[in-house]
Amino acid sequence: MTQAQTMIEVRGVGKMFTLHNQGGVCLPVFENVDFDAARGECLVLAGPSGTGKSTLLRCLYGNYLTTAGTIRVRDGAGWVTLTGAPEQRILRLRRDVIGYVSQFLRVIPRVGALDVVAEPLRQRGVALDEARERAAVLLARLRLPERLWRLPPATFSGGEQQRVNIARGLIGGHPVLLLDEPTASLDADNRAVVVELIREAMAAGRCLVGIFHDEAVRDAVASRVLTLKPTLKPTLEPTLKPAAPAGAAALTE
Ligand SMILES: Nc1ncnc2c1ncn2[C@@H]1O[C@H](COP(=O)(O)OP(=O)(O)OP(=O)(O)O)[C@@H](O)[C@H]1O
Ligand SMILES: [Mg+2]
Repeated sequence: MTQAQTMIEVRGVGKMFTLHNQGGVCLPVFENVDFDAARGECLVLAGPSGTGKSTLLRCLYGNYLTTAGTIRVRDGAGWVTLTGAPEQRILRLRRDVIGYVSQFLRVIPRVGALDVVAEPLRQRGVALDEARERAAVLLARLRLPERLWRLPPATFSGGEQQRVNIARGLIGGHPVLLLDEPTASLDADNRAVVVELIREAMAAGRCLVGIFHDEAVRDAVASRVLTLKPTLKPTLEPTLKPAAPAGAAALTE
């Protein structure tokens, strides 16, 4: 396995949201996005607010459907076409291949921080003690005070929750790791730890795609930058669409 092995292949990808309860207004976000991302690198998604960085990351995680193009992800010896893959396949990819650190932690009620972090290992059958031990190592590196480890993160500060979230994303050792502003709520010392962990992940041959508003962090980790540009304005669909049924979700997904 070489450092340059491609892990993600994005071809002609476009995304448009259709707002059914706004008369079918179409909101094109981006189109014709092409890139590859390889092991050992950190591809940074940049561009002004609203250009679709988070949306693209969610497409890579199979969270949003794309409206055009294909995304392929390497899984062991083969490739999986994420766009159009059945849900079960996407869930398996998330367990084994693609990790994702969202900007905010989705807190699980009553589960302590240590177990929140250990969970991705537990899902893969790692024994509880070992999973907790590895979670403890990461939380210590991220300098989360030990007195918080057994407590559910719901009442933690923004920066504490973010560190739990980062530990949870990193622990699984996923070959692909997607990061959406992982340092947004951190002070300078904690940001430095995260930069160190990201560099270690790159050195270990993981393929990272991330969004970093903080320029110093971006410069410290980026091996390449893909800049999304504000292109298209919202357009109203020219043809009449049937009205959305009462109570339908506001958004397409
Ligand atoms: N679920 C959704 N439904 C409808 N529109 C959406 C949805 N998610 C995002 N958008 C729209 O898509 C556009 C891109 O949003 P996105 O969050 O991807 O931007 P971003 O580049 O990450 O911005 P920021 O730097 O502020 O985080 C925005 O105009 C946003 O309103
Ligand atoms: Mg964003």
